[in-house]
Amino acid sequence: MSALDINISSFVFYTLIKGKFPKALLIVKKTSIHRYCTAPMLGITDRHFRQIARFLSSQVLTYTELVHSNAITVGQYCLKLEDNAKAGPVALQLIGCIPEDLGAAAAKASQYGFAEINFNVGCPSPRGMSGNFGLCLMDDAPLVAKCVKACCQASPLPVTLKCRLGSRFDYSWDELLRFIDLNAHAGCHCFIVHARKADMNLDTRKNRSIPELEYEKVYRLKELYPELEWVINGDIKNNEQALQHLQYVDGVMLGRSLYHNIYLLSEVDKLFFDIEHPILSRRQFVEEKVIPYAEEGLAQGIALSHFVRHILGLYQYQTKANAWRRFLAENAYKPGSGIEVIRQALQIVEEPSQPELAK
Ligand SMILES: Cc1cc2nc3c(=O)[nH]c(=O)nc-3n(C[C@H](O)[C@H](O)[C@H](O)COP(=O)(O)O)c2cc1C
Repeated sequence: MSALDINISSFVFYTLIKGKFPKALLIVKKTSIHRYCTAPMLGITDRHFRQIARFLSSQVLTYTELVHSNAITVGQYCLKLEDNAKAGPVALQLIGCIPEDLGAAAAKASQYGFAEINFNVGCPSPRGMSGNFGLCLMDDAPLVAKCVKACCQASPLPVTLKCRLGSRFDYSWDELLRFIDLNAHAGCHCFIVHARKADMNLDTRKNRSIPELEYEKVYRLKELYPELEWVINGDIKNNEQALQHLQYVDGVMLGRSLYHNIYLLSEVDKLFFDIEHPILSRRQFVEEKVIPYAEEGLAQGIALSHFVRHILGLYQYQTKANAWRRFLAENAYKPGSGIEVIRQALQIVEEPSQPELAK
């Protein structure tokens, strides 16, 4: 009996095919769409970030910043849905706590080409506490399940959850399992877990560093629920670490590391999806992708800084990283700055046009 591995993007992992190759057991190894994700980050992962990320990787799954269901059902965000679904695959992240409203928002958003509806129950901000959204909902698993169910019923898109390992330091393992059971039953088949608890006594920023990282617990969840998809998040610094995690879970989600070094995405298609295509050097990426995109935006009246902010970390770990960052920071934010600022910054770093390692 021989085994042949083929990689295909899909939601399912292993399918056995018999018949066409009667003497062979053909194992079609399918790769999760969540294998490599950019984390949603309010104030950072706007549509320009996502487009710039897409220039570097055709496969990465990007997430919008959090959007309250009301912003779609009664607010102005519905006007932005089309633009925000571009450069897909993009998952729309929703917050809220009223199942009917979330369902209505999911239904509306589904018409615009998003790949997924993601419901955020991991955001530990004080505004979430007062508005009853985000992390505090992990204490009300039945309500989250109602919200998930409402989204599933209203939308044909997959509905996923982004959560923590707990909403308080004393959140128990049993509580977490109950949370998962209820929500898997409600229709969520993919959990994105920031691998630490949070606690409302810490501020939002401290909640991203002080609670202990517990990757093993996420690995354990995958063992307990192998039929569900598990995406691990939290302090993954580089692609080597991401690959390590993929021995245990289905996907990785990177936030701050990518923001500080977006060029990590340049090797994602090859390393994580086995897709061979030439890796753009940093210079090529800027000249062939970012500059034309920014020029289009400038022509529409968008300030240069909206694009430049996402490439400030492009030369991270390179000798001229500081010179690049400083020049852009000092010049791209001035009113009326034009595309020549990026060209001048390129001249300063004088990069050879060979593909480089993202580190
Ligand atoms: C500036 C900032 C904004 C964030 N905004 C969101 C958000 O809108 N929705 C969300 O689910 N998580 C948000 N997060 C949390 C990240 O998605 C991620 O879970 C967290 O940063 C841990 O991943 P990392 O260590 O790879 O950055 C935000 C994080 C940062 C740093």
